[in-house]
Amino acid sequence: MQSDAPSLLSIADDLVERGWSQQDAFLPPDLALALADECRARAAQGTLAPAAIGHRATVAVLESIRGDRIEWLEAGQSVACDRYLQIMETLRVALNRDLYLGLEEYECHFALYPPGAFYQKHLDRFHDDDCRTVSAIIYLNDGWLPEQGGALRLYPAGQASQDIAPLMNRFALFLSADMPHEVLPASRERLSLTGWFKRRAQT
Ligand code: OGA
Ligand code: MN
Repeated sequence: MQSDAPSLLSIADDLVERGWSQQDAFLPPDLALALADECRARAAQGTLAPAAIGHRATVAVLESIRGDRIEWLEAGQSVACDRYLQIMETLRVALNRDLYLGLEEYECHFALYPPGAFYQKHLDRFHDDDCRTVSAIIYLNDGWLPEQGGALRLYPAGQASQDIAPLMNRFALFLSADMPHEVLPASRERLSLTGWFKRRAQT
């Protein structure tokens, strides 16, 4: 993907104008399918672990707050993951060029929400660490129906709340510091790859 690709330009515009962006059919379709397969394979192998909440001293697993299972991604694990990381790198460079965000790093994990699981309203920025700047999620669910639930609900300041259904190859982004959000429960398994562009720690 080129750093002047139209979807990258509209992401930057959206983030400036309203703090969030939704891009449908974002990845090459074969890559979205390969990532979905990989998420399911990792789940089958049992490498996805219950997600924790908090940071450093305060990490805890509380299913009453979030019920997903996750696995962090690293470079070199699979062709599909590396292609995705390369696209996120192109996006990081484009966001820095257009928005001067000073993004230096990117981290991401696969996430699987079993039926009924949710993530209560929260902010993605930790109290003791303000590095997370842009949250970016690619959804990996074929044939998702509105009645199956599972929306990402955003609460932009001064605007109506916004529901984003987790459709295959839909990409959602928002500014991590200012966007309260939650994941609503779904009647079926919900797969995604969730990541954060991070700036240098401000000390
Ligand atoms: C998160 C999160 C949103 C989603 O992992 O912090 O808010 O739609 N995920 O999966
Ligand atoms: Mn979140």
